[in-house]
Amino acid sequence: MSVTDYLRQNRQKHLDELFDFVRIPSVSAKSEHRDDTRRAAEWLADRMREAGLTAVELIATTGHPIVLGEWRGAPAGAPTFVVYGHYDVQPAEPLEEWKSEPFEPTVRDGRLYARGSVDDKGQLYLHLKAVQAHLETNGTLPVNVVFVVEGEEEVGSPNLERFLEANAERLRCDAVMISDTTMFAPGLPSITIGLRGMAYMEVRVQGPAVDLHSGAYGGAVVNPANALARIVAQLHDADGRITIPGFYDRVAALTDAERAQIAGLPFTEEGLREEVGAPALGGEKGFGALERIWARPTLDVNGLLSGYTGEGAKTVLPSKAMAKVSMRLVPDQDHREVERIFTDFVQSLAPAGVTVTVEALHGGAAWYAQPEGPIFDAASRALARAFGKEPVFIREGGSIPIVEVFRKQFGAPAVLIGFGLPGENAHAPNEWMSIDNYQRGAEAIALMYEELA
Ligand code: BES
Ligand code: ZN
Repeated sequence: MSVTDYLRQNRQKHLDELFDFVRIPSVSAKSEHRDDTRRAAEWLADRMREAGLTAVELIATTGHPIVLGEWRGAPAGAPTFVVYGHYDVQPAEPLEEWKSEPFEPTVRDGRLYARGSVDDKGQLYLHLKAVQAHLETNGTLPVNVVFVVEGEEEVGSPNLERFLEANAERLRCDAVMISDTTMFAPGLPSITIGLRGMAYMEVRVQGPAVDLHSGAYGGAVVNPANALARIVAQLHDADGRITIPGFYDRVAALTDAERAQIAGLPFTEEGLREEVGAPALGGEKGFGALERIWARPTLDVNGLLSGYTGEGAKTVLPSKAMAKVSMRLVPDQDHREVERIFTDFVQSLAPAGVTVTVEALHGGAAWYAQPEGPIFDAASRALARAFGKEPVFIREGGSIPIVEVFRKQFGAPAVLIGFGLPGENAHAPNEWMSIDNYQRGAEAIALMYEELA
């Protein structure tokens, strides 16, 4: 039997297994889901053993465990692939926006709706099914594989880098395979060759010791909410450029060839506007939307908290205000340097009458690679066979900071093949994964191993 036939015959079974996976609410950010997160790790380890992997184990960390599993039966001299993914998911809130329960898989219009369906449980699990397809039909694989699956990707991978460093020998590899990104368009297979980095900051503004009556004290006491709003407003200029001194010093500009390549992709800004449902697009002046998302750094408020936000009106002068601010970084920015200059600049904007505290929550480097060599060729041929179309090479605006660590640590190319789709609602209510992509993705990865033989 061919690997493709095997995957087609087991289509429903593999879907049912994914349903079980997404039913486990492995929300890494929330301590109340600590046991659920561990249960997802154990569930995955069991499926790895069933698939024929050996040395399957949970590696304890100070946070959530890392799941390891390997198959090392390839002929002597064969390359070794690390397959990286994450079994943790984002919180499901706001719950009232979901059309079906976030942790009860529901199929509508060929889509599997559930938190974690596409980010990253479905995309990760199809790799295991692709490996299993080879082991069950051919009894072998042309390469050795090591699965490294973490449970803390959505909270900045605080333990993974240390683990990679401490286990460099065991994880030595020739390539890293990751499916945690998206296809450029439905039916258009895509290989991602760039990701942005991250510097995530929290800004706290403290004014009076307690909340005050805004009539009795307003006018004599600095309002922390007003102060924070002013600080945030000063982080961009009227052209949408970030005002932090030195912020753009290390930003690498796109080459003309890269711009031409982007211009050749099937994309319209109006299509993007419709996808997000906003009245107009916006951002840094002088760059197209794709370039802004893929190759320009950004600064976004992810959350703001202060004062009274309940029903009706309450006249209060809040004692404190807080903002979560993240910056997406591009080559060759250094996240530690960005954390420093952000902190200094925000402190310089703090008015008298409040105390401003800035804390860096997590960060990581951007990544960019040239898609050259036999592994990319094999991946391209496999995608063309599975989807009936040649893949395009894209960059993306999201972050998987560990990819750059893999590159530095192992010097191995990372092959990022995404099976998500535009509008998939990752990190948002009603996240979904295309069931067709789940199937074809598994076929494509299985065919890639065949092409590598
Ligand atoms: N799957 C995403 C990364 C991603 C998103 C790649 C969009 C390409 C396009 C991943 O799970 C993720 O969300 N990562 C975080 C990383 C952060 C916590 C450091 C992100 O990008 O916000
Ligand atoms: Zn992800």
